[in-house]
Amino acid sequence: MRFVLLGPPGAGKGTQAERLAKKYGIPHIATGDILRQSVKDRTKSGMLAKSYMDRGELVPDQILIGIIRDRLSSLDCSKGSILDGFPRTVTQADALSSILHRLNQKLDGAINLELPEEEVIARLSGRRVCRSCGTNYHTQFNPPKEGGKCDKCGGQLYQRDDDKEEAIQNRLKVYQRQTEPLIKYYKKEGLLISVDGAKEISTVFENLCEIVEGVKK
Ligand code: AP5
Repeated sequence: MRFVLLGPPGAGKGTQAERLAKKYGIPHIATGDILRQSVKDRTKSGMLAKSYMDRGELVPDQILIGIIRDRLSSLDCSKGSILDGFPRTVTQADALSSILHRLNQKLDGAINLELPEEEVIARLSGRRVCRSCGTNYHTQFNPPKEGGKCDKCGGQLYQRDDDKEEAIQNRLKVYQRQTEPLIKYYKKEGLLISVDGAKEISTVFENLCEIVEGVKK
C-alpha cells in the first residue's frame, strides 16, 4: 500500500507516518528528514537546501524529485511506503505519478491531515526533536518522560531552526501558495481522503488505520 500524507506544517504528518510505517512494516519516507540529514552530512544538496529550509521556503523541485526517484526505486519500497512531505508542489505530484507509473506501482490515497492555523503555530513552537534519532516530541502535547531527553535513545532534544516564529509564518504562506493546490489535484484524481488532524494523536492514528485497513481489504 502506498499513501501520501498532506497537510500544513505541524499537522502531524511525521508523527503519524512513523506509527503507520511501524505498524504496517513499510518505509516512512520523510523528505524533511532526508534533507536535514544531508545538511548534517554537509553534502552538496544539503548545503544548497539549508538556506531554503531555514527561511521556510521550498527546496527546488528537481532536488526533491531526484531524491524520491532514487528512494522509491529501492527494493524495500516495492511493497509500499508512506510519503511524508512529498509531493509539495503540482510539479512534484506530476513527477511522483510518472515515477510510480514507471515502477508499475500506484498510489492508494492522498490523506490530508486538516489543522487550523492557530493549532499549527501552537504545535510547531512547542515541537522538540531528538538530535540522534529524529523522534518528535511536544513540550505540552507529547512531552518526553525526562525533560530534554529522548525516551527512545536518550538523545538530546532541540528546537528546529524553522520552528522559530518568523519561519513558521513563512512556511504557512508557502504552504497555502504552493502545497494547498494539491488538495484539488488529488480530489480530481479521486485519491483525496480528509482526516481531522486536530484530534489527539492516538485518535488520528486510529482513523488512519481504518483507512489503511479499508484499502488492504
Ligand atoms: P518538513 O520537515 O516536511 O516540515 P513540514 O511539512 O513543515 O512538516 P513538519 O515536520 O513541520 O510537521 P508535521 O506535519 O510532520 O508534524 P509533526 O508530526 O512533526 O520540511 C521542512 C523543510 O524541508 C520545508 O520547509 C522545506 O524547506 C523542505 N522540504 C521538505 N520536503 C520538501 C519538498 N517535498 N519540496 C521542497 N522542499 C521540501 O508534529 C508537529 C508537532 O505537533 C510535534 O511536536 C508533535 O509531537 C505534535 N503533534 C503531532 N500530532 C499531534 C496531535 N494530534 N495533537 C497534538 N500534538 C500533535
